[in-house]
Amino acid sequence: MNGVESNGQAKADMRVRLRGVEFKNPVLVASGTFGYGAEAKKYCDIEQLAGIVTKSVSWKPRPGNPPHRIIETASGMLNSIGLANVGVHTFVSEKLPYLAKFDTKIIANIAASSMEEYRDVLEHIEQHATPNLVGYEINISCPNVKDGGLSFGTNVERTEELTTLLRASTDRLLIIKLTPNVTSVAPFAQACERAGADAISLINTLVGMSIDIYTHEPRLNTVTGGLSGPAIKPIALAQVYQARKACGIPIIGIGGIVSAEDTVEFLIAGACMVQIGTANFVHPDAGIRVARGLAEFLQKQNISAVGDLVNSLRIRAELKAAGW
Ligand SMILES: Cc1cc2nc3c(=O)[nH]c(=O)nc-3n(C[C@H](O)[C@H](O)[C@H](O)COP(=O)(O)O)c2cc1C
Repeated sequence: MNGVESNGQAKADMRVRLRGVEFKNPVLVASGTFGYGAEAKKYCDIEQLAGIVTKSVSWKPRPGNPPHRIIETASGMLNSIGLANVGVHTFVSEKLPYLAKFDTKIIANIAASSMEEYRDVLEHIEQHATPNLVGYEINISCPNVKDGGLSFGTNVERTEELTTLLRASTDRLLIIKLTPNVTSVAPFAQACERAGADAISLINTLVGMSIDIYTHEPRLNTVTGGLSGPAIKPIALAQVYQARKACGIPIIGIGGIVSAEDTVEFLIAGACMVQIGTANFVHPDAGIRVARGLAEFLQKQNISAVGDLVNSLRIRAELKAAGW
């Protein structure tokens, strides 16, 4: 409920609803940048986050790619972790029960190399679901593995088929995580909506590269990797805006968000929630800082509810008429 600050001003309502699920604020932490919660707990009061999107989990454990698999770049980082994860059996026996102790929502991110694997992982988690597991984020957008979801995420028909299949296996939130590595995100957003996804999240990392000019070797063991961090924010924002114009389901904005102001831009462009990724490597409590900053922004701007910002972009009539 809305409280009242000591200065008499009403606190802004930070709550967000995705279908039936109420989040305490719009700020989640992004898959692969917050582990399974335990790693960051020492530095971050997890319960102030709207929720945690867990590291992509596959059927079998994966060691990931050999080093080097993280490189710092101007305003960002390149990674080729390669979906290193504990596998779904350890995920449900250790990670989910640990996360169940916290008053925050958990979204399980799933990665796989076939339709059947996606479905089997999801159904296995369903059978062992904990009370705060509210949904799934389906990673069809990892650029760092040869047999990863990008073959789904860059094909509209396969995106729709996979979403339809998974929709039949769960009543929890089904969120499809889209890649920016396509010509246009619009048909993918529409395919997810047609197939019954509750929301889409975007963006995952962009394919990037870095070269050691003395050895002439690529700096990442996999030659190319995924670029993230502030460098990708303008691209992410444009993709959220394009997806917003193309579909009617909720959008979760991701990409280079480090501050409350960044978040406000994503909300104005049409996202109703955001995820904080690379910023967690600088400050493990980045999500909390962003959520607090957002509450202060709303209060200072006399905005009573965070929802009032969503999709509030103003585009002059003549630009709209010209198709922008
Ligand atoms: C080191 C690292 C590991 C990641 N692992 C995953 C992953 O396992 N699954 C996934 O869907 N996204 C993964 N991502 C992508 C992030 O969740 C996010 O979409 C992307 O980094 C863009 O957001 P950012 O610029 O705020 O980091 C990873 C990103 C980084 C930097």
